[in-house]
Amino acid sequence: MANILCIGAGYVGGPTMAVIAKHCPQHRVDVVDINEEKIAAWQSDQLPIYEPGLKEIVLEVRDKNLFFSTEIDRHIAESDIIFVSVNTPTKTFGQGAGKAADLQYWEKTARQILENSSSPKIVVEKSTLPVRTAEAMERILNSNDKGLFFDVVSNPEFLAEGSAIRDMENPDRVLVGGRESSSGQEAVQAIVDIYAQWLPRERIITTNLWSSELSKLAANAFLAQRISSINAIAHLCEKTEADVTEVAHAIGTDSRLGPHFLRASVGFGGSCFKKDILNLVYLCEYYSLYEVATYWEQVVKMNEYQKANFVSKMVTAMFNSVAGKRIALFGVAFKANTSDTRESPALAVCRALLEERAQVVISDPYALDNARTDLSDVAEQVIFEPDPYVAAQDAHAIAILTEWPQFAELDYQAIHAAMIQPTFIFDGRNILDHKKLHQIGFNVYALGKPPRTHFPS
Ligand code: NAD
Ligand code: UGA
Repeated sequence: MANILCIGAGYVGGPTMAVIAKHCPQHRVDVVDINEEKIAAWQSDQLPIYEPGLKEIVLEVRDKNLFFSTEIDRHIAESDIIFVSVNTPTKTFGQGAGKAADLQYWEKTARQILENSSSPKIVVEKSTLPVRTAEAMERILNSNDKGLFFDVVSNPEFLAEGSAIRDMENPDRVLVGGRESSSGQEAVQAIVDIYAQWLPRERIITTNLWSSELSKLAANAFLAQRISSINAIAHLCEKTEADVTEVAHAIGTDSRLGPHFLRASVGFGGSCFKKDILNLVYLCEYYSLYEVATYWEQVVKMNEYQKANFVSKMVTAMFNSVAGKRIALFGVAFKANTSDTRESPALAVCRALLEERAQVVISDPYALDNARTDLSDVAEQVIFEPDPYVAAQDAHAIAILTEWPQFAELDYQAIHAAMIQPTFIFDGRNILDHKKLHQIGFNVYALGKPPRTHFPS
């Protein structure tokens, strides 16, 4: 039996430890955080995050072998293995501002581990970190006069929000990187043994520390690059009457390319893609690899263009002015099946429409609370409305910004009748039946497809 501790009870710490606790009943798993409210929520029936299947697992194992607490020091002292999944946002100040990872929370945690330890421990990097962070971690932890030795292992997380439990239960792979020394390899084995409780050994990849750290950044960069690539092609589609959905299908059936991550959109969001690519860009610049840095930076630039261009197309289509017009934004979560709004393209679209003096109404099934916080500085100018029918009432336009399936199932005939004519719909996720909407009477603007309007060309 081992005492497993996870520092950081966020989107990663909570779900990953719940699944580990479920599959490793022989181990005790404690999850700690500095945020008292969050820990109280993890201990309640209103978990702090929404993830399909999460609540069931938490209810199954909580207070059996999964515990949530704010007593960080005590749990550090009692633990054998410590996963660190604190946030690693983009630095906003000083050297590397706007690109480099802000590792202050990370370093604080390392020092706290050292201060409260009186036995050797395995420290696992679960957060996404720049390559060679483990070296700094080792230096901090092992420069001690207590005679203690800490092994640092990298075990990056690849789960996606909205499918966190499925991804943890059945991942394509788990990655564990460690030192080649015998104690390093024993530490790697201890982490492998945890995952081997429910995964076949061949799905657990072991590498050296630096490959593991870099693979996480590279995986996110490749995924985001595919989205920016298809979004770039979508613009060309709009100029040439090609249809991006057809092009994506035609490309994706090539088994060398595969069908995933080829959905054109208003832009990728989420807490990690932008931050991790900028982190990669900063690393390249640090090593004077300027052409490589520029290559990856373009993925983020394309995404910024995507969001700005979406709004500019809306304004142009609506007779070059949206001032005073009610516009209903359907979806503010950065993707479906999550309440997370971090870096959501919907927030950028909302702010740009407010700049144009539109009246913005946001509707979302799960993410309105987070959106209220994100938009607190402009809250007086935005209406938050859970019911999409009410949101669209007297609106000039609807913009689909999150691919919630329920938005495709609404009664658009009724919605159209309640809107100001002529009606506009901008599908930033290509999830609606555009032909049908056009027949109902909407002027329909989808991504990477010719517009369907009722105006003479
Ligand atoms: P999060 O903000 O949801 O959670 C991080 C938590 O760490 C917060 O609750 C915060 O209060 C806590 N924390 C910060 N400093 C602390 C300290 N000193 N002691 C105790 N707790 C502390 O972040 P997240 O989305 O879970 O991401 C965590 C890391 O995992 C990031 O590096 C991220 O890049 C990576 N990651 C995230 C995802 C994802 O889907 N969100 C997926 C893979 C990897
Ligand atoms: C992403 C990765 O998929 C995870 O593997 C990784 O662990 C995680 O980042 C992380 O490191 O944080 P996540 O951001 O939760 O996961 O969600 P994704 O499904 O990757 O979607 C990211 C964004 O891209 C969303 O805004 C989504 O709507 C958008 N997207 C995705 C597209 O616009 N088109 C697509 O084809 C796919």
